[in-house]
Amino acid sequence: EISKKDLKKNSKIDSLNNLKSELKNIDCNLKEIATNLVFSDGNHNSNIMIIGEAPGAKEDIAGKPFVGDAGKLLDKMLAYINLSRKNFYISNMIFWRPPGNRTPNEEEISTCLPITKKHISIIKPKLLIFVGSIAAKNLLNTKDGITKIRGNRHFYKDDEYNLKIHARAIFHPAYLMRNPIEKKRTWEDLLEIDEFIVSNKILDNE
Ligand code: URA
Repeated sequence: EISKKDLKKNSKIDSLNNLKSELKNIDCNLKEIATNLVFSDGNHNSNIMIIGEAPGAKEDIAGKPFVGDAGKLLDKMLAYINLSRKNFYISNMIFWRPPGNRTPNEEEISTCLPITKKHISIIKPKLLIFVGSIAAKNLLNTKDGITKIRGNRHFYKDDEYNLKIHARAIFHPAYLMRNPIEKKRTWEDLLEIDEFIVSNKILDNE
């Protein structure tokens, strides 16, 4: 007999597959030059969803987010608070690699944004972690920079899907590789996130 929980899990997989198919019809210029679509990795039943910026060269080849040098550092940062791809779900704001790893432009961001909003509504996490300023600014709807956004508690709000989800932002690991001095603040941010996860039992009852 199929339990309600299993039904819910199956419908989540269906919704994610449908969303992935929707990407086929999205008119994004990056698609033409990219090798692969980079959709997501990790556990889609997790209560924690992590959102980065855009795939780089390694991700473009692998078709998986955060598998290059920045990804390795991100995995290390998250392992510090006992998070692994078994207990979080991870994606990006942009689903194809921008040439030369340039920052995605406004048009690319606004083309992909509705997909990410839907993505969040399907996963329905209890905690969102935005990695870097592109995800933080666009999903928190602020013009503030990441230096101001990080270190504070936020809510991700989406009226269309009727969502209000706890959110945090951290410096992007690629930025930390260039500015290691900011690692100390990031480790403090990670500890705050860990405290929040533990005290709110975010990782329980998956
Ligand atoms: N940087 C990102 O923001 N995302 C990736 O997937 C890889 C590098």
